[in-house]
Amino acid sequence: MQDIDIIPCLNDNYSYLICDKDTNTITIIDPSDFNPCDEIIKKKYNKLDYILNTHHHFDHVGGNQKLKEKYKAKVLGCEIDKDRIPEIDITLKEKQNFKLGKTSFEVIFVPGHTTGHIAFYFKDEKIVFTGDTLFSLGCGKIFEGTCEQMFNSLNKLKNLPIDTKIYCGHEYTKKNLEFCLEYDSNNEFLKKKIIGLTQS
Ligand SMILES: [Fe+2]
Repeated sequence: MQDIDIIPCLNDNYSYLICDKDTNTITIIDPSDFNPCDEIIKKKYNKLDYILNTHHHFDHVGGNQKLKEKYKAKVLGCEIDKDRIPEIDITLKEKQNFKLGKTSFEVIFVPGHTTGHIAFYFKDEKIVFTGDTLFSLGCGKIFEGTCEQMFNSLNKLKNLPIDTKIYCGHEYTKKNLEFCLEYDSNNEFLKKKIIGLTQS
């Protein structure tokens, strides 16, 4: 079983710190920025074994170099991005399984936002880290791939079990909700959600 810490970084990024409690294996996903990530790593575990990157954008890999230097962690990312992810050590392919201590994840290849974007699916824990492919109420911008690729990628995520918990790369819920309401103003679910957000 795992402990997960959510680390807000930069303006609206999320990095995630995972501890495999059985083996004390520590992993960070998309460290945007060294300082906020290091602060919590230092305080909670004072070690880091793996750095996982969903894609090569600076706000997802910004902490790679310094974290690797400090903790001697291994950097993992998509094989397509082996020349774009700083400090990469281990390349990953679609459907590959990788173990972080006793916990393992499967690589889901989700191109569209970038051509080498991947998601990390922890089947036993029923969680998925989607980077900039899927957010709360929206999807990422298509910078490098095609609309068809993004559509297929979103369908792969849609086909995961309905009770899968999604950890995304940015906090865009409010902006996405306002956009959705512009085009679907009578949607009861959206109306309730905006009341919840403005009250919190
Ligand atoms: Fe991105």
